[in-house]
Amino acid sequence: MAESGATLSNLSTESRAFPPSEEFAAQANATAELYDRADADREAFWAEQADRLSWSRKWDKVLEWNAPFAKWFVGGQLNVAYNCVDRHVEEGNGDRVALYWEGEPGDSREITYADLKREVSRAANALIELGVGKGDRVAIQMPMIPETAISMLACARIGAMHSVVFGGFSPGALKARIEDAECKLLITTDGQYRRGKPAPMKENTDEAVEGTSIEHVLVVKRTDIDVPWTDGRDVWWHDTVGTASEEHTPEAFDSEHPLFILYTSGTTGKPKGILHTSGGYLTQTAYTHNVVFDHKPGESVYWCTADVGWVTGHSYIVYGPMANGATSVMYEGTPNTPHEGRHWEIVQKYGVSIYYTAPTLIRTFMKWGEQIPAEYDLSSLKVLGTVGEPINPEAWMWFREKIGGERCPIVDTWWQTETGAIMIAPLPGVTETKPGSAMKVLPGIGATVVDESGTPVGNGEGGYLVLDQPWPAMLRGIWGDEERYRDTYWSKFAEQGYYFAGDGAKYDEDGAIWLLGRVDDVMNISGHRISTTEVESALVSHPTVAEAAVVGASDETTGQGIVAFVILRGNAAKDGGDEAIKALRDHVAKEIGPIAKPRNIMVVEELPKTRSGKIMRRLLKDVAENREVGDVSTLADSSVMDLISSGMKEGKED
Ligand code: PRX
Repeated sequence: MAESGATLSNLSTESRAFPPSEEFAAQANATAELYDRADADREAFWAEQADRLSWSRKWDKVLEWNAPFAKWFVGGQLNVAYNCVDRHVEEGNGDRVALYWEGEPGDSREITYADLKREVSRAANALIELGVGKGDRVAIQMPMIPETAISMLACARIGAMHSVVFGGFSPGALKARIEDAECKLLITTDGQYRRGKPAPMKENTDEAVEGTSIEHVLVVKRTDIDVPWTDGRDVWWHDTVGTASEEHTPEAFDSEHPLFILYTSGTTGKPKGILHTSGGYLTQTAYTHNVVFDHKPGESVYWCTADVGWVTGHSYIVYGPMANGATSVMYEGTPNTPHEGRHWEIVQKYGVSIYYTAPTLIRTFMKWGEQIPAEYDLSSLKVLGTVGEPINPEAWMWFREKIGGERCPIVDTWWQTETGAIMIAPLPGVTETKPGSAMKVLPGIGATVVDESGTPVGNGEGGYLVLDQPWPAMLRGIWGDEERYRDTYWSKFAEQGYYFAGDGAKYDEDGAIWLLGRVDDVMNISGHRISTTEVESALVSHPTVAEAAVVGASDETTGQGIVAFVILRGNAAKDGGDEAIKALRDHVAKEIGPIAKPRNIMVVEELPKTRSGKIMRRLLKDVAENREVGDVSTLADSSVMDLISSGMKEGKED
């Protein structure tokens, strides 16, 4: 189990606990009574949460569960975009800011809900003009600009599904996703700002759409750089969306109408298209955004620092907050452009009250030094949140002291692309939090920690985290692959009918939940899931590589770092020097994206294999983490590990 040793030893010494202040508790959206209400009647509880939304037709039944397939709010009809945009305008909040957008070069825009309604309607009309209709798939690869959220909402408005692909993914990765979902339209930009400079975007996406089902490419002008252009296929956003009518009547769709596909890494090389639908997803994202962040519409200024290309951006930049009429900050750039205080400058500028980020970023801020946030006025902050990976107690304490002024509750939120919304987290006005623990299963959610046989473990014990009840925002499947859906999530504890999340977890003596990392071959790099297989296939696709094995090794900043062991082919084997290693790292970046670049690559003569030829990653992980190598008795050739370990000690990091 990844990092369990380290986390467990932290645990035994962790006695600090922070109850909410009386003042905070008195004004909090959620009280302890929520747990009782959910326990007493789960379906009635979720029906109450669904009433946060505006439905064109009320549901007949809260839940239909034919395991592992759920339908929520059966027979209900709604329009997701109407819920996120129009109804706030109709309720008299058209002048409320929906997005304070900060561009990387320092430009900014303020978009009210009334503006958003006009823009989303225009974009919806333009999509229809371009031949996109109900059920069609639209690929989106864009930087963090308002048009990205507008594009997503426009798809939702007309019942098309979006498939957002993170801007840092390579043309090959985008192409594979376009092909898997048979997308009709791609929305992208001319370029994007990266660390102060415009970089090409369309040039890359052009490579991806070649020979696919894409009929049109809709291009937002962001950087004004020169772009290649294919007449008839490519259209500018300002020429089409910009001139489209701002009148569009949203149609109500079934509660189970598909909303989006989002690809995530699995234990095999091929990414999985996680499918989410409308009514249940919007209900749980809106509910959790309200209770976990203690969001107050019209008062809170909310900032989720994730990229819209990941699920956190979908659920907690776009759908949850907008369903709740939130005023959000959206920031285009990196945290150190043009200086390392950029985030705190933005918090100060907009009076941000809720700040939701990733542990990896907190550890980066720690490295940059506490004197940086100390220069800014952070007194507007009320609630801090983290997501994506386990947060170590030291980073949690730093976040609490240096950013939260020791007054802001911290909510460590556990969830996944597949769960769609937060599942385990403290309630900030109720739960006494411990540094490093996600604490408690949310009201209405069923999760438990079980042993190998599926039996729940007791306090002080660890095991596998499973979800034992269907939940509204749950994935409805893997796009085009029902069998893989059953196999991946429902087969390990088939008898009990549990969803297996792939994570290890443990209860402490008080029953608080501590996440212990992935138990499968999936790494967690800065809160992003990348499979070992994907990186291995990228490496072996390079002409100099004969074999590759990849592991995630614990890393002070990014949670895990990618460490690759490669066997080079014949002639190439003589050249394991810096240049060759750099070429391999660049090759992985080109094949998958810079995020998947190995931190270290070690050239080895042999890989540790069992007699049946299975690579023993556990042993490589020991080497990568500088630990004594574990049991080698099942290795076909046990001397291999001595060679690898001695090489690792000499190995360089770049
Ligand atoms: O291992 C868990 C880790 O991130 C995985 C989900 O990754 P992804 O689908 O990319 O979604 C990330 C954002 C929701 C989980 O299986 N993870 C997520 N949140 C936490 C976490 N690990 C520990 N603590 C968390 N709060």
